[in-house]
Amino acid sequence: IACIGSFFLLVYLIMAIIGSPLSVAKCVFVCFQSCHATKPDMLNVHLVPHTHDDVGWLKTVDQYYYGDRNNIQHAGVQYILDSVVDQLLKNPDRRFIYVETAFFYRWWKQQSSSMQQTVKQLVDEGRLEFVNGGWCMSDEATTHYSAVIDQMTLGLRFLNETFGVCGRPRVAWHIDPFGHAREHASMFAQMGFDGFFFGRVDYQDRARRMKDKEQELLWRASSSLTPPMADLFTGILPNGYNPPDGFCWDQLCDDAPIRDDPDLEDYNVDDVVTRFLKAANTQALAYKTNHIIMTMGSDFQYENANLWYKNLDKLILYVNANQSSGSKVNLLYSTPSCYLQELHRANLTWPLKEDDFFPYADAAHDFWTGYFTSRPALKRYERISNSNLQTCNQLEVLGGPASRKGPFGAGDSQTLSKAMAVAQHHDAVSGTEKQHVANDYAKRLAEGWQHCQVLVSNSLASLRGSSAEIIYCDNLNISVCPLTEASKKFSVGVYNPLAHPVTWPVRLPVNGTAYGVTDATGKPVFPVSRSTQDVRRNRGFARNELVFQVQAPPLGFSTYFTFFFLHCDKFSSKNKTISLLQYLQVTFDPDTGLLSGLSNLETKQTIKLTQNFYWYNSSRGNNAESKQPSGAYIFRPNSSTPLVVSKTAKSSVVQEVRQRFSPWVSQVVRLYADSKALELEWTVGPVPINDWQGKEVITRLDTSIKTSQLFYTDSNGREVLQRRKDFRPTWELKQTEPIAGNYYPINSRAFLKDDEDQLTVVTDRSQGGSSLQNGSLEIMLHRRLLFDDYRGVDEALNEASEIFPDGLVVRGRLFLTLDHPASAADTHRPLAQQVVLQPLLTFTDGDLSPETQLEFSGLQAALPSAVHLLTLSQWDKDSVLLRLEHQFQSDESQVNSRPVTVNLQKLFSTLDVLGVSELNLSANQWKDEMKRFEWSPQKGTVHT
Ligand SMILES: *[C@@H]1O[C@H](CO)[C@@H](O)[C@H](O)[C@H]1NC(C)=O
Ligand SMILES: *[C@@H]1O[C@H](CO)[C@@H](O)[C@H](O)[C@H]1NC(C)=O
Ligand SMILES: *[C@@H]1O[C@H](CO)[C@@H](O)[C@H](O)[C@H]1NC(C)=O
Ligand SMILES: *[C@@H]1O[C@H](CO)[C@@H](O)[C@H](O)[C@H]1NC(C)=O
Ligand SMILES: *[C@@H]1O[C@H](CO)[C@@H](O)[C@H](O)[C@H]1NC(C)=O
Ligand SMILES: [Zn+2]
Repeated sequence: IACIGSFFLLVYLIMAIIGSPLSVAKCVFVCFQSCHATKPDMLNVHLVPHTHDDVGWLKTVDQYYYGDRNNIQHAGVQYILDSVVDQLLKNPDRRFIYVETAFFYRWWKQQSSSMQQTVKQLVDEGRLEFVNGGWCMSDEATTHYSAVIDQMTLGLRFLNETFGVCGRPRVAWHIDPFGHAREHASMFAQMGFDGFFFGRVDYQDRARRMKDKEQELLWRASSSLTPPMADLFTGILPNGYNPPDGFCWDQLCDDAPIRDDPDLEDYNVDDVVTRFLKAANTQALAYKTNHIIMTMGSDFQYENANLWYKNLDKLILYVNANQSSGSKVNLLYSTPSCYLQELHRANLTWPLKEDDFFPYADAAHDFWTGYFTSRPALKRYERISNSNLQTCNQLEVLGGPASRKGPFGAGDSQTLSKAMAVAQHHDAVSGTEKQHVANDYAKRLAEGWQHCQVLVSNSLASLRGSSAEIIYCDNLNISVCPLTEASKKFSVGVYNPLAHPVTWPVRLPVNGTAYGVTDATGKPVFPVSRSTQDVRRNRGFARNELVFQVQAPPLGFSTYFTFFFLHCDKFSSKNKTISLLQYLQVTFDPDTGLLSGLSNLETKQTIKLTQNFYWYNSSRGNNAESKQPSGAYIFRPNSSTPLVVSKTAKSSVVQEVRQRFSPWVSQVVRLYADSKALELEWTVGPVPINDWQGKEVITRLDTSIKTSQLFYTDSNGREVLQRRKDFRPTWELKQTEPIAGNYYPINSRAFLKDDEDQLTVVTDRSQGGSSLQNGSLEIMLHRRLLFDDYRGVDEALNEASEIFPDGLVVRGRLFLTLDHPASAADTHRPLAQQVVLQPLLTFTDGDLSPETQLEFSGLQAALPSAVHLLTLSQWDKDSVLLRLEHQFQSDESQVNSRPVTVNLQKLFSTLDVLGVSELNLSANQWKDEMKRFEWSPQKGTVHT
């Protein structure tokens, strides 16, 4: 079976491995004929009862579910669902939408089968409608597309399997995320959504759109996919996601109820009707059609749904009653899909948007650009957990049933899959939750990984034909691994989750000074650096690091044996240039010790490149322009000039260059043979605050590249968007924060380029960054702040822990490549995938039995370089879910941007493909059944 991907086409398949090909279900959409009738000659007001239930924020996801710790915030999702179902049954006109499947799933499991039947009927009749339907409402600035697709798949699959076609959301709903990524819109389009609604948009952008009636638009979310594949109708909601002022009837609100008994005190029906008509008519001025939407609900509302519904019933009754006295306003219970259907019927043309909605500001000095970097350790942990989950999913398929139940017990991938899905929430990986909630997210990921470790061990045992104990070392980044420190002979298994072969540097903590490694090149031993000793504190005592390059086949493993030698062989050099390698050369300034230049020896390109570390002093909120402090969400430096940590770095050279800038900032500069990237391993913290100054630490690369205010950042790790300082493509920006107002999310890469040179920086987690001077690129690495920023979290972002009571130390890596712009993507695309899906190292003490299989590849051959294997996971007993992705944009590579053919029949080495069925991106709909609304762009807004 040949599958041809056009530019950037994703192909999603369920492959039936055993048994007959899957049959295609044919369904009729009875459920969507349940929208209430509207009146063509009136202003129709769609009242959408809803609740916004954060999958963790001030409380953990489980505390929110149960309504525990109500002293922190009164919120209990189980009661919300109980109460709403009860109220829906009382009046068939009523509607409700539900969004977060993480909560709905918890509730559903606890219901009796008769209650489940009742709820199914409500769903079939369109009275309870699922919107968005992912496990959570993901953050858009700090998530990676791979994890977003997984979390959407998890939620949507549950809805499809539980409710069938009527449970399939047709509308994406991101009412709270703090800025909107173009890649999210592209993914939603490919998941089959007909439209997308959100609540937060920059205040200047909103003002302009309200004036021009452009709050509803067509988002062209990919520069590579042929329209309308990634076109998504997008609506900006009128009041964020709240009801209009004065019409909040939840128990959490204080607005007056509708007092409609004329015999009692304070009869207010006329007042309510008058105020409502005014609100509706005002709102209608900013939208194009004779339909408007009102979100009747907010955070954790409807716990006592009677309050809302009783008043909404009356509101509809009394406002519509005035139609007989000539009022032209018609109220109805509605849902986002019913509203969208009316907009579609209006058959208008819509303004086209091709950029994204970052950064988001809700006032002149309130840029929500701090969370791009907030909680950098959690952001890295989330990213590495994604890598571990993909490995776990793949090995569950490759190892067969023995992976779930084998010599090491019962393992599963579901625990990590759910923990990862929860971590995508817009107050999780975003870093905008309370500290105890951040700890809960990390704990869930750790527990998930433990379940996966059992699965991975079982699978490897089965594939290797050996049940020797497999040991994991999760702290290699700080040179801690009890096995390698103590053992005189051990083997290293390298599992590569990519569909291409990989070469990877391995660094292991050891106590000896000389080691032999079979089949690996370069095996020097370096003393453990001072910064590593500092950061590991008392968690391990290894004196040295053993470094060697390993190779692993696509979707498979290799094995290396390591022996301890007694004699000593010292590596040290005074050499100020490191260039043992064919690709790159890096130079340092002899006076300052700073990086000063980068050359690509292959292409003979050289740029000036000075790198240093700086910090912005965070605003305390006490200055003349605004009281806004810097906090978990908001970035607000007190001055536009960052302070330098140190003008010089003390460096020592042990094949790698170790730079020390201050007691709390250090860096190791590394070049590896066969690697086209320069590695900068930074270690920042504990950030001192004894001067009572919050600090936002950046590294800045100042280069000779002539960028004329332009720079480039990726969107959720996928397509790349052009950015320009002090500029927004769709409105005349009045810049009010020269630093924070120019920050953008960097999920996996950013670059600078001119006609000759492109410097690309690949990151190991999501971070914020900007280019504020020509040729300069800065990336924010860590933040330690002393004030809350008044967005609800009510804590200063001042991370500490048991091991780091003096403040968290964070370590990470940046990878730099220098290429010609025309071929840069050929290097940075595969490099970024290697950083996202990095090899998993496993260890076995002593010898392996001679019959152990030392090498394995799940593929017959590596995939073409343009194709990325995004997902391979067990779907059900007989089928697996496979996602293949064309990973190049249409214009970025002469060789790799072309269409590619993959022969699925010859893909796997151990699986026979018996049949293939193509699905949408989220795997909840057969591709041939995916029919989306078509929308027309307004003339004059289509750019070429
Ligand atoms: C609505 O109609 C009632 C009677 O039909 C009238 O008394 C009232 O003033 C009207 N209110 C508004 C706001 O039009
Ligand atoms: C929609 O508008 C177009 C152009 O204005 C028109 O040709 C078409 O017939 C309309 N479609 C419907 C269903 O009204
Ligand atoms: C490694 O060496 C250090 C320093 O000599 C020692 O304290 C430690 O116990 C050794 N670790 C092991 C596992 O042998
Ligand atoms: C510096 O490195 C180069 C390349 O590896 C080597 O040829 C040279 O001998 C080194 N010089 C010193 C002083 O170590
Ligand atoms: C959706 O769920 C139904 C069962 O409710 C199942 O028959 C169908 O195959 C599922 N669709 C997809 C695309 O998985
Ligand atoms: Zn929220």
